[in-house]
Amino acid sequence: MGDEGKWVVVAAAGDVAKGAMKAVGVAGLDLALYHLADGTWCASDNLCTHAAARLTDGWLEGCTIECPLHAGRFDLRTGAGQGAPIEDDLLVYPVRVEGDDVLVQLPAD
Ligand code: FES
Repeated sequence: MGDEGKWVVVAAAGDVAKGAMKAVGVAGLDLALYHLADGTWCASDNLCTHAAARLTDGWLEGCTIECPLHAGRFDLRTGAGQGAPIEDDLLVYPVRVEGDDVLVQLPAD
């Protein structure tokens, strides 16, 4: 186990407008990249923790993503579920921007 995960470029910053999100496949993971309206970037697993729905098919509002299937909500800053029907929090990933590259830190092996 390393201490630090690897940073990987997942998108060009100019490709994801503020208030938009994008599904990105990287290293076998299905991730969701979010560009919040305030300019903050967040990333999470794209699969909802409740059932089989992809969060990038849902609705992004502020720092909250709402699942398209049963309207479960997660706080993207922490991954915390925001009540029923969500029982398990969402895995979120650190994001940073370098120039026009958006990088996500993957978990260490
Ligand atoms: S699948 Fe996301 S809330 Fe049910």
